[in-house]
Amino acid sequence: MSIISTDISKAVELLNNEELVAIPTETVYGLAGNIFSEKAVKAIFETKERPFFNPLIVHIPNINYLDTIVETIPEKAKLLAEAFWPGPITLVLKKKSIIPDLITGGKDTVAVRVPNHPLTLDLLGKLDFPLAAPSANPFNRISPTKAEHVESYFKDKIKMVLDGGACKSGIESTIIGFENGEPIIYRLGSTPIEAIEAVVGTIEVKNKKEVAPDAPGMLERHYAPKTKTILTSHLKEAVEANKNLRIGLLTYNDILNDDAIHFKIVLSEGKNLEEAASKLYDALHQLDQQDLDLIIAERLPDYGLGKSINDRLTRATKS
Ligand code: TXA
Ligand code: MG
Repeated sequence: MSIISTDISKAVELLNNEELVAIPTETVYGLAGNIFSEKAVKAIFETKERPFFNPLIVHIPNINYLDTIVETIPEKAKLLAEAFWPGPITLVLKKKSIIPDLITGGKDTVAVRVPNHPLTLDLLGKLDFPLAAPSANPFNRISPTKAEHVESYFKDKIKMVLDGGACKSGIESTIIGFENGEPIIYRLGSTPIEAIEAVVGTIEVKNKKEVAPDAPGMLERHYAPKTKTILTSHLKEAVEANKNLRIGLLTYNDILNDDAIHFKIVLSEGKNLEEAASKLYDALHQLDQQDLDLIIAERLPDYGLGKSINDRLTRATKS
């Protein structure tokens, strides 16, 4: 029997009973549990096979809830929350002691956001606690943007995926931490840097593992298909060089035709970065099911969401 359902009251009941439910957000599906339940939070780590040092994002119903879980709110954090919530920005702030250490990997900060999905906002409004929710994929694998993706990963491990359709943004939230009151991007994501800078001015990006020890999830290899994947700006040459292999192509809008190509996905024929982002993970899921020897992915323009997509594709291609 399918675990996919739109029954909110069932989701409420499961979560109240310390069980996990996969939930839709505007970015990707999350694997959610009660932040105050040790049983539920441990189950999140176990189900994902995620190491305990990698902390979880806390999902709250609205901006007013922030005071309950964080100690101080820098001025620029307030501006960002007011500008983008509900929406794909996660703020890393000094935590109050009410937040269990298990959520934060022992750190004194907590990552928090208000997700922008009507079903999940409805759900959060019906619960007495926030939801811890990492992306609903096994550790390092491709994030899910459809209920079916979650089902294929976890049908034997969880009881329910709350079906909210395909995620609109399609890549994870942008994560922002604060050093001396100044915002710093720890993870590129669904809110483009340009939009953030319009609110708080020039912002530094520290999303490499070496320079951002404060964002323990920023592993070099992540979001990865099982099939070997390469990223290039020179599609034609890459196809030429690998003609002996069964090739799959992931392009921005290129209409390259070649007999060596067995399967091809064009992210946005009209060159729209929002459209490309929303289709990215589903494309990788599809390509990974074609029994290919090699996925050749095209590098996108290096601005706006193109930067975030290139970041994910780079991590998907690390071996
Ligand atoms: O869009 C999203 O953010 C999705 C949806 C479900 O909300 N969630 C998501 O969660 O991407 P996850 O667990 O896959 O990624 C959370 C990232 C990890 O890289 C983690 O290291 C970082 O957030 N993080 C969590 N708490 C942190 C903290 N206190 N300091 C620094 N980084 C933190
Ligand atoms: Mg993730």
